[in-house]
Amino acid sequence: MPVVTLDAPVVNAPPLPSGIGIALREASMRFPSGLQALDNIDAAVAPGEFVAIVGPSGCGKSTLLRIVAGLITPTGGTCARSGDGAAAFVFQEPALLPWRTVQKNAELLMELERYAPAERTARAAEALKLVGLAGFERAYPHSLSGGMRMRLSLARVIALKPRLLLLDEPLAAVDELTRDVLQEELSLMWQAAGFTALLVTHNVHEAVYLSSRVLVMSDRPGRIVEIVDVPFAFPRAAEIRSTPEFAHLTGEVSAILRGRARA
Ligand SMILES: Nc1ncnc2c1ncn2[C@@H]1O[C@H](COP(=O)(O)OP(=O)(O)OP(=O)(O)O)[C@@H](O)[C@H]1O
Ligand SMILES: [Mg+2]
Repeated sequence: MPVVTLDAPVVNAPPLPSGIGIALREASMRFPSGLQALDNIDAAVAPGEFVAIVGPSGCGKSTLLRIVAGLITPTGGTCARSGDGAAAFVFQEPALLPWRTVQKNAELLMELERYAPAERTARAAEALKLVGLAGFERAYPHSLSGGMRMRLSLARVIALKPRLLLLDEPLAAVDELTRDVLQEELSLMWQAAGFTALLVTHNVHEAVYLSSRVLVMSDRPGRIVEIVDVPFAFPRAAEIRSTPEFAHLTGEVSAILRGRARA
């Protein structure tokens, strides 16, 4: 990976203008139970941008992603998208089918979308190569490590060539070393493919390393209390995480979070 120093020119603009843009205007969500999960969310995500969302547990982060995915409609305000293309969701649990090989798992979403078999095979092969699983096509999920399972889960959505990727704590279940490596891979994948990414994470370091902006949410009902700009250029060297500038920024995000979270 190229080494980037902090005094390199800051490139905070999206690497490729081919993702889907998102505009949330005064969006709120009150569930039929009466629970107010989100309140007055105003946020815009530019096409191709990588934005992270952090906030206390239960503040409505997953609800916000579901709104952006179009799975639920906000009960107040609006969520609009600009640009065409597919949106894809990645969850904490890879949800692989144990009776299917790596190759067949990688093809699963394309099968559901009725892609032609030749197209499925080609796209799955490309995606497996991208996540470092080439050579494991005939293996079954039980024989993969946790990190490899998450890579397969990523390959499955990358194969769809989504223009918007919604990630809900995708790396929360893997060990720290694997998580660092997967973060680097995810960042490179995003830079190569140019989709818009919205990442929910409890890990402030992950939020800062991957994104160009971190949305910090309040306790429930979730509001955006601060948007922190991350001024480091892409591609970001892994070592950036040990610089004082990085520590300063993660400290700032953590302090905002601590100030807002329940004790
Ligand atoms: N379908 C639903 N019906 C009623 N309440 C819901 C529904 N989905 C979520 N909630 C509630 O909305 C609030 C926000 O939930 P959400 O899952 O969005 O939080 P979160 O920020 O993702 O939390 P965590 O960090 O623990 O994953 C919670 O109080 C939850 O119980
Ligand atoms: Mg959640």
